[in-house]
Amino acid sequence: MIAIGSDHGGYELKQEIIRYFEENHIEYKDFGCDSLVSCDYPNYGKQVAQAVVEGTCEKGIVICGTGIGISIAANKVKGIRAALCHDCFSAEATRAHNDANVLALGGRVVGPGLALKIVETFLNTEFSKEERHTRRINQLECE
Ligand code: RB5
Repeated sequence: MIAIGSDHGGYELKQEIIRYFEENHIEYKDFGCDSLVSCDYPNYGKQVAQAVVEGTCEKGIVICGTGIGISIAANKVKGIRAALCHDCFSAEATRAHNDANVLALGGRVVGPGLALKIVETFLNTEFSKEERHTRRINQLECE
């Protein structure tokens, strides 16, 4: 199950990704928002992040205009490693090296074609489980 959420700046891209999920029979939970009406990205970033740390969803996707605000919001939740990716190389590397559990996208930065390739790459790349990457991920957590 993939958690997905956006503010108004990411709404249109969120709907494109949901269309892709439905076409490809990928289970998802949509945390909103539900329209282009202006709203606050921290609310949606945190709800998606919470679903991932609680384990009801295995990964999350968060989208705002730039992807920056909502990635900061998600990263405030303990246990979240949210990665803002606007290219496939970064999406692959952040799964393999950082075991990122949330993908952040900027709906005003990337078009839907590239965004869907980034989503596919993120969802289909496994963590490498190499000792040096596990060690560094463990060093990210602070009390
Ligand atoms: C909303 O206008 C915009 O600030 C928001 O979507 C996001 O880009 C914040 O980081």
